[in-house]
This record gives sequence, structure tokens and C-alpha cells, in this order.
Amino acid sequence: MVFVERTDFVTSSELRYLTREQRNSYERDGFLVLEGFVGDDEIEALRDRALEIVDDFDPTDVVSIFSTKQQTRTSDDYFLGSGDRIRCFFEEEAFDEDGRLKQSKELSINKIGHAQHDLDPVFKAFSHTRKLADVAADIGMLDPLVVQSMYIFKQPRIGGEGSLHNDSTFLYTDPITATGFWFAVEDATEENGCLWALPGGHSIPIKERFYRRPEGGTAFEVFDDSPYPTDGLVPLPAPKGTLVVLHGLLPHWSAPNRSSSSRHAYALHAVESDAHYPDDNWLQRRPDRPFVGFSAE
Ligand code: FE2
Repeated sequence: MVFVERTDFVTSSELRYLTREQRNSYERDGFLVLEGFVGDDEIEALRDRALEIVDDFDPTDVVSIFSTKQQTRTSDDYFLGSGDRIRCFFEEEAFDEDGRLKQSKELSINKIGHAQHDLDPVFKAFSHTRKLADVAADIGMLDPLVVQSMYIFKQPRIGGEGSLHNDSTFLYTDPITATGFWFAVEDATEENGCLWALPGGHSIPIKERFYRRPEGGTAFEVFDDSPYPTDGLVPLPAPKGTLVVLHGLLPHWSAPNRSSSSRHAYALHAVESDAHYPDDNWLQRRPDRPFVGFSAE
């Protein structure tokens, strides 16, 4: 497999939303923090809707998935089938030995994924805005397609770590084009598990790719098994309403949440429409639910 770095980004001097300085800092660092990008009303509508989805979610079937002897296969199916659905995922340690939830459903959910951005009206309105399309254009995206959404709860005390990774590992395209748009739905601080990133780390070539194995399940194809450098990682505290844009090769992670406050966040990922999106990427959609852009109706 050949990895080609994208070099045909638009270099127009016409910026729609970002300042020249912001665009330059994105190119230099591989990320950009835009405080106050989203207003309180929009953020609160999203948070309320996420809580409603969890409230409506009947965990009975999913709990049985996690307690069956064929746990690996069935939990794979639940995950792999979520590319064009809205599904709730549990924290890793949510279940006891008998497969029962240790605490209430509301406090056990890790995230909602992966297609609420075009299947749920509230999420759809939040995810498809002119402002967001403008930012994507300003960082050089030509025709971005939104491929996934995740609403991440990072529950108080049990919110799990997001290990050091880049997003192109999970949303591989040739050339590499995955880009993350991460919104702080609540204040993200060092105490409750904000993002950390490695400035300039987007120059590190991709090390591995997550894919669907032909025989079922998923695996990593490893190109370079050396770890990412951790010296120089910086925290990205983000007040509610902040947008953090992340280059698809940028190493980033978030610490577990041991604090008493939750850290809700919403992330969208986009790829270029003309980049090759492999059939064995984990995230696939049925033909009647294609990927759409930021400014879709
Ligand atoms: Fe990520």
C-alpha cells in the first residue's frame, strides 16, 4: 500500500471564517482551538437530545450481547453495524461478572454513535452548518463528506481513557484526508479529561490501520510498531462551545475522568469525497445511506 500525502489543498487567499493566523497555526500544529464557536442554545439543545436518546434506549438487548458466551462476535456485530445507525455504547467496566450493569444506565453509557449527524434532526441541524463548512474549506478541504459522529459522555469517575492515536488509523483514506471536528458540550479541563495533542505530530506517517477482517471481526494492520512520542503533548482545555479541529494524522488522547463532573463532547469526522475509502474500513454504510457534506439540506 502506498501512502500519498495530500498536496492539492486549496491555497486560496479567501478565508471564510478563520483568520490567516489561525489557518497558519492549524498547518503548523495540526490542530486549532476555536473558543465560542457554538452558542449556548445550540450546545444545550444537543446535550438535551443526547440525554433523551439515552433515556429512550432499552439496554436489555445490548446487556444480553455483553453477557453472552459469544461476546466477541456479537459485540463486534453491534459495533460494526453502527456506521449508519444510532447506537449507545457502554463504558468498558459497566458490567459485573454476571453481565449486569453495575450502576444506572445513564451513568454507564460511554458514547452514542455513529450516524446521529444525519439520522437525528437535532444532531443533523447541529452538524450541517454553513459555519462548519466554512471552517472545513478554510483548512483546505475541497469536498468534505461527514462519515461519522460520536457523542462522548466521559462519565464522572468512570469515564475511560482515549488512548494515544490518530483518527486516520480508524478512518483510513488514500490519500489521508480524515479530519476531526470536536465540540466541547461541557467545559473540558485537565481534571475531567480534556484532549491532549502533540503539536506538529501530524507530520508523523500513519503507523497502523484498523480494518474489518474477511473472516469477521476487526484487526490492526501495522506499518510501524514504534510508539508515538509522548514528550511535548499539550492539554487542550476547552470551555463549553469550543470547536477543536484535528488533522487526521495528529496524535491525540484524553485522560480518564476521575473527577465528579462529566465531560460531554461531540465529534464529527470528515473525509474528502475523491479520496479512496476502502471497503474494509470498519465504518461502512448501506447504499441507500451515503455520506453527505456539511451543508447538506
Ligand atoms: Fe480521535
